[in-house]
Amino acid sequence: MQTRALDIIRGNWRNGFTIPTSKLYPFQWLWDSGFVAMGNGIYNLPQAIEEIDKMFSGQWANGMVPHILFHSEKESTYFPNFDFWNSNVNPGAPLFPKSSGITQPPVFGFVLKALLENHPDDESLKEFTKKIFPKIKAFHKFLYTYRDHNREGLFHIFHPWESGRDNSPIWDNSLDRIVIDKKRLPEYTRRDTNLADASERPTTDQYNRYVYLLELGKKYRYDGKEIAKESPFLIQDSMMNAILIKSNDSLIEIASDLKLDAGQIKEWQQLSKSNYDQKFWNEDLGLYVGYDLRNDKQMLHREIGGIAPLFAQIPDQEKASRINDYLKSIAERGYYLCPSYDVDSPNFDSKRYWRGPIWPQMNWMIYKGLLHYNFADTADIVKNDLITLIHKLGFYEYFEAQKELVETLQKGYGGNNFSWTASSYIHLNSIT
Ligand code: SER
Repeated sequence: MQTRALDIIRGNWRNGFTIPTSKLYPFQWLWDSGFVAMGNGIYNLPQAIEEIDKMFSGQWANGMVPHILFHSEKESTYFPNFDFWNSNVNPGAPLFPKSSGITQPPVFGFVLKALLENHPDDESLKEFTKKIFPKIKAFHKFLYTYRDHNREGLFHIFHPWESGRDNSPIWDNSLDRIVIDKKRLPEYTRRDTNLADASERPTTDQYNRYVYLLELGKKYRYDGKEIAKESPFLIQDSMMNAILIKSNDSLIEIASDLKLDAGQIKEWQQLSKSNYDQKFWNEDLGLYVGYDLRNDKQMLHREIGGIAPLFAQIPDQEKASRINDYLKSIAERGYYLCPSYDVDSPNFDSKRYWRGPIWPQMNWMIYKGLLHYNFADTADIVKNDLITLIHKLGFYEYFEAQKELVETLQKGYGGNNFSWTASSYIHLNSIT
């Protein structure tokens, strides 16, 4: 299976980067690329270096790394394509590669650290680290500068696609604020539902809202301030901010090893860490939650983004223990770990994208987090459940969470031969 996983990544390799899967996602995606570089980098370090380098070839003058780079302008199986994004309304967006106008979880700090841990003596990696370090730092600076108007050290997003968890029920209330006027919404044709089962993808109503927010971004040249004033969707996400903290920590450690300058990162990190718990921890739920800046309220949901802070070692042992208990209780009730949304909510949908299914890269992060807190038993479940699902159902994009139902299925959900599934598999089988 390890060979099969490497073959999948080889098959998805294009000219210097890895597509997540053919047709459904035929370009370079930010957090996919990071997770792929991490697993693939164990065996193919030069490719992993090239992959990260390629991602930063699309960095904007303001530091943002876009969530999609359209290296090939010929692919026509994806909506919204580069012409719909029209990101060159922002003068700091490169002409080539063309890109989207939003970002995704800032994973590259911890990805780089993982590569250095696997190849501690590799000189080419050390050289690359010196070159890429300032660019990753500039990306983090973008988040602190353009997406943190209250200077809390906790950045916001204005589009659910930025979170990576596109159609999670956590966004429903905020998206419901958008009033869709069909006459003012540009015409568009979805491609995803021709390539994956429509029942596994976001709904048409959700897509209208995604397009509305994309147009809002475009109207303000994808620049932070004006969007933040108008957007009905303005959220500080617990997972994205945890990933930023994890990547900051990694950059600080890398800087100390390689004698690079981490001064500013340390200041940002102090601010982020001092506000994280108070903003995102919810004592009643015993989990972290997101924060809606439009109505100044925590968003009260049990979901995977409230568990991810384990990965960044944010909770103290007592809070971590409550999160661990929650995961164990789900496992005992006939679910594989870790469902992306609250299995007891009426909004839980074990099939539809981020409304319930299991996502490989999330299991990878949560596995690492649980190990840190010495919850080895739960960590093993998280790791083995993903491996079992891949063995039973293939290298799919995401998976059914209910054990009973899995027994009736022949395959996973979404795209097949999926790069981050292969990469998470490689990583989980290669190191502890
Ligand atoms: N994940 C989104 C999609 O399905 C956007 O990146 O296209």
